[in-house]
Amino acid sequence: MPVTDNIVEVDHFRIKIGGKTIIKDLSFSVKRGEIFGLLGSNGCGKTTTIRALLGIYEATSGELKINGEKFSPDSSVKIGYLPEERGLYKKESVIDVMAHFGKLRGMRRAKAWSLRYLNQVGLREYAKTRIDKLSQGQQQKIQLGITIMNQPDLLILDEPTKGFDPVNRKLLMDIIDDLHRRGCTIILITHYMDEVEKLCDNILLLKNGTACAYGKVMDIRKRFRYKNLDQIFIDIYGNKETTRA
Ligand SMILES: Nc1ncnc2c1ncn2[C@@H]1O[C@H](COP(=O)(O)OP(=O)(O)OP(=O)(O)O)[C@@H](O)[C@H]1O
Ligand SMILES: [Mg+2]
Repeated sequence: MPVTDNIVEVDHFRIKIGGKTIIKDLSFSVKRGEIFGLLGSNGCGKTTTIRALLGIYEATSGELKINGEKFSPDSSVKIGYLPEERGLYKKESVIDVMAHFGKLRGMRRAKAWSLRYLNQVGLREYAKTRIDKLSQGQQQKIQLGITIMNQPDLLILDEPTKGFDPVNRKLLMDIIDDLHRRGCTIILITHYMDEVEKLCDNILLLKNGTACAYGKVMDIRKRFRYKNLDQIFIDIYGNKETTRA
C-alpha cells in the first residue's frame, strides 16, 4: 500500500457527458481518517465525481486516484459505497439479503453481525420481513448496514440521510461518527448543513464544474464572515448558476 497522507486525490478532473461539460476543472484531496464533505446544489456534479472516482464513468481528462492508484476492484483499500440510486433484492427477507452480501464480501459471521446491526438501528423485529414490506427509511438503513458491514477503510455516502426523520438522522450520524473514530475515512454528500457542521473536517463546494470553496469548515465560515453553512450555501447557490463552459 503506497504511503500517502491522502487516500483520495483528484487532479484537474474534467468530464463531458453527451457533449455537455459537467465538471470543468476539479482538484481536491481527502486525507486518511477525515470526514470530507462534498457539497453543492442539485445537478452540480457531486454524484458524477464519485462515479468517476469509482470507475463507473470515465474522466474526459485529469486523474482520480484512491491510495495513489486509479480505482480497481482488487484494491487493497476496502471501499463501502452507498450510491444515490439504491437496489436491494426486494422479495427476500432482510436477514437473508444482509447475510448474502456479507458472504459475497467474505465475512464469516455475516448473520451475527447483521442481527447486531438490526438491533442497533431498531429493526431487529424485521429480520425475517421481506425488504419490500419495509418503509423507504427502513430499507435505507438496511442498505447502509450492507455498505458498512465489511468495515471499509473508505466509506462514500451519497446522501445517506435522504428521507430520514430527525431521530434516524441522528442515529445515522452517530454511526458515521463511530466509524470515523475507528479510523474509517468518509466522503459525505449531503444537503443537510447541520450534518456538515457536526461531522466534516474539510469540505468542498462545487459550482460551475469547479471548486468554489474548499478547505476547513471554520476557514470557509471565516471567509463568509462567520455565517452559518446554510446561509453560505444560499449566498453561493442562491443566484442561478452561470452556464457551464
Ligand atoms: N449518465 C448521464 N447522462 C446524461 N447526463 C448526466 C449523466 N449523469 C449525470 N448527468 C448530468 O450531470 C449533471 C450532474 O449530475 P449529478 O447527478 O452528478 O449531480 P449531483 O450534484 O449529484 O446532484 P443532486 O444533488 O441532485 O444529487 C446533471 O446535469 C446531470 O443531468
Ligand atoms: Mg447526486
